[in-house]
Amino acid sequence: MLSIAKRGYMNILDFQNKKNNQEKISMITCYDYTSACMLAKTSVDCLLVGDTVAMTIHGFKDTVAATIDMMALHTAAVSRGAGNKFIVGDLPFLSYRKSFSSSIAAAQVLMQAGANAIKLEGAAGNLKIIRHLTESGVPVMGHLGLTPQSIHLLGGFKVQGKTNESAQRLQEAALALQAAGCFALVLECVPSQLAEKITKALVIPTIGIGAGPATDGQVLVYQDLLGLQTEFKPKFLKVYVEGAKHFSNGIESFVNEVKNGEFPQDEHCYKS
Ligand code: KIV
Repeated sequence: MLSIAKRGYMNILDFQNKKNNQEKISMITCYDYTSACMLAKTSVDCLLVGDTVAMTIHGFKDTVAATIDMMALHTAAVSRGAGNKFIVGDLPFLSYRKSFSSSIAAAQVLMQAGANAIKLEGAAGNLKIIRHLTESGVPVMGHLGLTPQSIHLLGGFKVQGKTNESAQRLQEAALALQAAGCFALVLECVPSQLAEKITKALVIPTIGIGAGPATDGQVLVYQDLLGLQTEFKPKFLKVYVEGAKHFSNGIESFVNEVKNGEFPQDEHCYKS
């Protein structure tokens, strides 16, 4: 059996090493086998099978629609395509809030589907389960700031921690997640200055999305950074490729060549 290091994993320990060495961590969401195969050949550190799969792949309006079955299916597909990457699986809405044993069962499903760690949102009410999971060998990534599973409570996709009081609460929550055993923390949509303060206060690395440049790493949604969707363009997003344009150019070329008989050519045909 190949050791974890030989397979080229970013090991769990590398998250801390990277923070200690001031090397930034890159994370990209991934939901399917084809994309995972492509990402496996890149130098990205870590893949997140985020519950944003409910939106990007299944077309729901928010992540509340994600289920453990959905997350397990996509985690398994990503793991088959990118077994050389460190894969974080998102525990979906309420899957870690019903009972202690059902929370453990949900984490077990994702780990056995191929995740190397799980991520869950928020601190209040989660510390006991995080402690138990980490003591049971399951690495847990925290997630604070804009926690999309609480969208109905937050009143929309809004930047969090803008007042002194809410910034203080977020800082305390970050320290509590670290004390409970989280190995890293996603900070989503918080002012850059607050993200910097939290990043400096924590020993564990922070990975930001809409949290400015001072976090120990950055994460973006695959479809967003590749320009595969053109409707959602938040301030924090940088689009690296005009993916949707390339996609439709390719499709239109195929359709035109079929119509005018240019495809298939000899090279695409079997000989008897
Ligand atoms: O579900 C997700 O994709 C996430 C990222 C946006 C951090 O949690």
